Amino acid sequence: MLSKINPTQTMAWKSLQRQMDLQKDETLTDIFQKNPDRFNTHHIEFENILVDFSKTHLQAQNQTELLNLCREINLKSAIEAQFSGEKINETEHRAVLHTALRNFSGNPVAVDGKNIMPDIQRVLAQMKAFTEAVHNGTHRGFSGKKIDTIVNIGIGGSDLGPVMVCRALKHYAVKDMKVHFVSNVDGTHITETLNEVNPETTLFLIVSKTFTTQETMANAKTAKKWFLNFADEVDVSKHFVAISTNTEAVVNFGIARENMFEFWDFVGGRFSLWSAVGLSIALYCGYDCFETLLKGAEAMDIHFLNTPFEKNIPVMMALISIFYTNFLDYTNEAVLPYEQYLDRFPAYLQQGIMESNGKTCDRNGNFIDYATCPIVWGEPGTNGQHSFYQLIHQGTAKTLSIFMAGAQSLNPSDKHHEMLLSNFFAQPEALMKGRLTAENNHKVFKGNHPTISILYQKLTPRTLGALIALFEHRTFVQGVIWNIFSYDQWGVELGKELANKILPELENDTGELTEYDLAWIKNTRKLIADYHAILEKLEKKEAAA
Ligand code: F6P
Repeated sequence: MLSKINPTQTMAWKSLQRQMDLQKDETLTDIFQKNPDRFNTHHIEFENILVDFSKTHLQAQNQTELLNLCREINLKSAIEAQFSGEKINETEHRAVLHTALRNFSGNPVAVDGKNIMPDIQRVLAQMKAFTEAVHNGTHRGFSGKKIDTIVNIGIGGSDLGPVMVCRALKHYAVKDMKVHFVSNVDGTHITETLNEVNPETTLFLIVSKTFTTQETMANAKTAKKWFLNFADEVDVSKHFVAISTNTEAVVNFGIARENMFEFWDFVGGRFSLWSAVGLSIALYCGYDCFETLLKGAEAMDIHFLNTPFEKNIPVMMALISIFYTNFLDYTNEAVLPYEQYLDRFPAYLQQGIMESNGKTCDRNGNFIDYATCPIVWGEPGTNGQHSFYQLIHQGTAKTLSIFMAGAQSLNPSDKHHEMLLSNFFAQPEALMKGRLTAENNHKVFKGNHPTISILYQKLTPRTLGALIALFEHRTFVQGVIWNIFSYDQWGVELGKELANKILPELENDTGELTEYDLAWIKNTRKLIADYHAILEKLEKKEAAA
């Protein structure tokens, strides 16, 4: 049974607090001077990935207590519960089994006594067959032309994962295949995309776990209406497929059942790219590439399941994050990939981490009084160095920075990769050491800023799969230690409900509304009226000029 312990009540937590009282003035430089070979004991290697956490304030005594914390909250049993299909997503009464989507072991995984692997393998086979049919021309558009453009319509986990992976694996993309992603309900997003695509050769993927999300359904309807300017209803089946758990809603939308790729409630939206939500990845990069991505994640799953915690990358990454968040009062983490292909990786992690652990209620239903998820943000290096590194170096906001880079470039060009890597190695050094003497204090760098460096051989589908799974498991471990439910997202439901209530009123269809709703709507209408008034003034000024 899962232990739902308040972590601050554990002996380890109290011991860490005492340690920090003694340790809080020690700088990274002090720590390195005590142990110059710190890298040797503060890095972990997994396949062709190396994680260096030597430039953090974590010392042996802290690590000992953090590992004790794992034992006190029984992390091992929590991991086993998740992988074995226990309904750990208790507020939604669901299992959490995105790990089963990449389970190639042949071992069964059961939910409610039913082995779910045959369904998972059936959908993977459906994805493989469909992808091959599109690529070899068996599946063509209504005018007989091959499909050469994919438009993925989805938002949140139905968008961010596929976008990030397609951009990360662009080097491996199928020749002449183009992919677009539409997510925002702002009409600009779908309009600008439709302006770029040919209805004869475009395949629309409508991706929505619930098939009710306002933005996705609005964009899907607009895309279908646009398409029917060029073709007939009978042609829709050649150009629209759905990825969802909601068969009834898919059929009601007008997509044939055989054109639906299902996934299941045991797959959370932000962990769904390994499912049919990843169809855009398979269509863009090839099914084999998609399967290799899954196998990379599976390799990290096996590492996470079987490795002692002190050498377990996701566990150590989680413990270091908690060390800074809960014992050194850090409030944000920067993810800084020195890899242009990973330019959407920070955005992907924002949902994966902050929608999971941005919680204030614990697993016993009580409000908590300790910090949980920090703010996660980031941009590729070296661009960040010309944007926000000023704050990381000399600001007051304390930031744990996670640097990432490939030792080899997929696009070797003269000296570029050496320049990129020189920055990747220099920045953590500078952040640690700073520059304590200068002609004036404006030019003093206090240093002592912690960093973790993740270095991999090169960005392959397998490595990417392992890196994504690394952060998924890190998120899981943090949630267990913080004693929170990481797999629901009640915090996003209120906004959705209000948007869906206000929309009919704005379209003059009142419906059943409470006093609270009516006040909201009255305020929204006034805001819109004010906006139009300002717009009119500006237009008059513009006309007069
Ligand atoms: O942001 C809320 C959320 O439910 C996410 O968890 C999910 O990924 C996204 O909306 C889209 O949901 P759906 O896939 O059901 O359209």
